[in-house]
Amino acid sequence: MVSTHFHGGCEIRSCVRDWYDDGDTSPDSAQVNDQRVVVLESSLMAFVTILYVADICGRPGRQATAHLVKPLREKYGVDYVIANSENAAGGFGITPEMAKKMFAYGVDLQTSGNHIWDRYDIVRYLYQKPKLLRPANFPEEAPGQGWYLEDVGGVKIGVINLQGRTYMKDIDCPFKVGRHLVYRLREQTKVIFVDFHAEATSEKQAMWHYLDGMVSAVIGSHTHVQTADETISPNGTAYLTDAGMTGPFDSVIGMQKEPSIERFVTGMPKRFTTATEDVKLSGVVLRISAETGRTESIERIRYDFDLDTFKPEDIVPAVSETESETDESYDESYDESQSDNEEELQE
Ligand code: FE2
Repeated sequence: MVSTHFHGGCEIRSCVRDWYDDGDTSPDSAQVNDQRVVVLESSLMAFVTILYVADICGRPGRQATAHLVKPLREKYGVDYVIANSENAAGGFGITPEMAKKMFAYGVDLQTSGNHIWDRYDIVRYLYQKPKLLRPANFPEEAPGQGWYLEDVGGVKIGVINLQGRTYMKDIDCPFKVGRHLVYRLREQTKVIFVDFHAEATSEKQAMWHYLDGMVSAVIGSHTHVQTADETISPNGTAYLTDAGMTGPFDSVIGMQKEPSIERFVTGMPKRFTTATEDVKLSGVVLRISAETGRTESIERIRYDFDLDTFKPEDIVPAVSETESETDESYDESYDESQSDNEEELQE
């Protein structure tokens, strides 16, 4: 099968053709690559179920993650949890202590985006802990890494974190960096998840078409507003423009409403503090063929969370699959020097 969506020349098209047509899932062809033989023989799962937890915002988002991820793992039979935690510290960045707690809550891998550098002590942690990713298309001199490959029950899962450039910082090209990483990971696995942290819907859709047939899913993050356009391409690549937010919904994308309104009305910088009410966990659940890497199903999820009344056995979706949401813009010009200094962990 040759995808007609690619515009990158013969190199890309022949690569796609190889993945689908050279029979590289058969034991015979796998013998040319010892590592691949090991993967095939040890694969026990026909499908891999991935839960992606959308942008965790402040203490309410951390609390929802702490209490909901493990029940959701059971409910959906999740094999691997990816969570975007770049807003975990009061909406701006994440501290090493918070990142460590995320793993204890049942998160397997954390992704991030433009706020990854907001807490200075995270830099040292990024050098030590590659399971907290920063966008791969930051210059290679930046600390940390933007991809990860992990064996889960005999199936290798590749994850790539990229950041858009439209209305965002002008870093390296996410398309070129993403393609390069996909080539590298495809030597090891066909199960590849991409968290594309970007502002513009158009850039996110373009990335989906660009990587169509080469990855299992392109899931958008950053706007904090869940979109209702989940789909799977004929080539098996799932897509959602934005998975939304895990945090307080009675807010302006997670922050208290009044300072946000005042900033827009007056044009003056304001101190932002995480809101507290109407907390929800948003995300998406993907069921992916371990053999082909094609996504078989995608389910957009959103769950209410109230710390005072929470019972793990009672979790009920807060949104039906047919309820529609609209994508909204996000102002990149937060005054980060005035960000909430929320550091305490009271989950
Ligand atoms: Fe962001």
